[in-house]
Amino acid sequence: MKTVRTRVAIIGAGPAGLMLAHLLSKADIESVVIDRRSRDEIETTIRAGILEQGTVELLESSGASTRVRTESTRHNGIELRFAGNGHRIDFDALVGRGVFLYPQHEVLKDLIAVRLAGGHDLRFGVTAERIEDAETARPRVITTESDGTQVAIEADFVVGADGSHSVSRAAVTGSHTGGYFREYPFAWFGVLCEAPPSAEELIYSNSPNGFALISQRSETIQRMYFQCDPETDAQAYTEEQLWEELQSRVPGTTLHEGPIFQRDVLRFRSFVSHELLRGRVALIGDAAHTVPPTGAKGMNLAIADVVLLDQALRALLLDDDTRLLDAFSEKALRRIWKAQHFSWWMTSMLHVAPGASEFDRRRQLGELRSVVESESGRRYLAEAYTGWPLESLT
Ligand code: PHB
Repeated sequence: MKTVRTRVAIIGAGPAGLMLAHLLSKADIESVVIDRRSRDEIETTIRAGILEQGTVELLESSGASTRVRTESTRHNGIELRFAGNGHRIDFDALVGRGVFLYPQHEVLKDLIAVRLAGGHDLRFGVTAERIEDAETARPRVITTESDGTQVAIEADFVVGADGSHSVSRAAVTGSHTGGYFREYPFAWFGVLCEAPPSAEELIYSNSPNGFALISQRSETIQRMYFQCDPETDAQAYTEEQLWEELQSRVPGTTLHEGPIFQRDVLRFRSFVSHELLRGRVALIGDAAHTVPPTGAKGMNLAIADVVLLDQALRALLLDDDTRLLDAFSEKALRRIWKAQHFSWWMTSMLHVAPGASEFDRRRQLGELRSVVESESGRRYLAEAYTGWPLESLT
């Protein structure tokens, strides 16, 4: 078997893995990033689109992206819609911060470009089979390249940034599923359509027929979702039926319609790994935790993990100081569980659970009113949605 030697082996070229590699490279810490997908697949897969202000500032200040400022759209609020009325949550007035609409695959294009421009090691089409010797000073990733060649990547540290179906997780928790789970009895039906925006900001709508999110991509392309059964076949709806579903879930407003050119069903769940660190292997991003998309926390939480692990690895690899690494899990988990709570809360407040009773329904409207009619309620939502300050281990 061929062996490659590096300081940090990073499994997964998503936002977490690529951003960590970028920050490490700025401290002259060499890494190898692998991903089983092709560059094209990574750069074109449609994911969520909301970045917290802290995420944007870090992408910019670290030199990872300039387009994130010039090509994103700042949103200073969202609308919560229920019982036929829209209620604006004014982020700017409440917390002096905003969020930015900039799709995840654009972030990935930027991170891949900066990695390749710097001449750093990034390998597509390489599958991580397993991690060996996690608890030694020489952990290794056993990989298979697209032509079947086996390559061992030997490192001082291994990072599992390989998403919700993580292979790395087994080396940290002892199993692929080792974590705290919550399943939801619904999924999102997502569409991309060619139409002008239906509103200036995102609309999160609760209706008797279920939840809908009216998001955007550009002046001509819109992204929308509606709550559906997890077993739904994305092809089972005609375009007309999709518009009927969407319109029925935003009572009191009318959406601009247009041709739907992409559709998908997104199942979601809440998950937090039992452990984030074992020996010289750490988990970050979706490998460590998955949140339902309602709070728009996914990619932002991954970046918050990266900020902490970057600090811990600099101390470990440049100064032989393990203290920050020892503090990593506890600090990361505090934010992870806050984000889990927020994402669960937004999800349960806005969706209609199958079999919900009249009591459940009326209580839910009471909850929504408690939020929009209270400045404290609105402020909590604004603080969490725009993102808590990025913390440091020191
Ligand atoms: C999206 O635009 O894809 C999006 C926005 C906000 C969310 C989830 C998804 O909470």
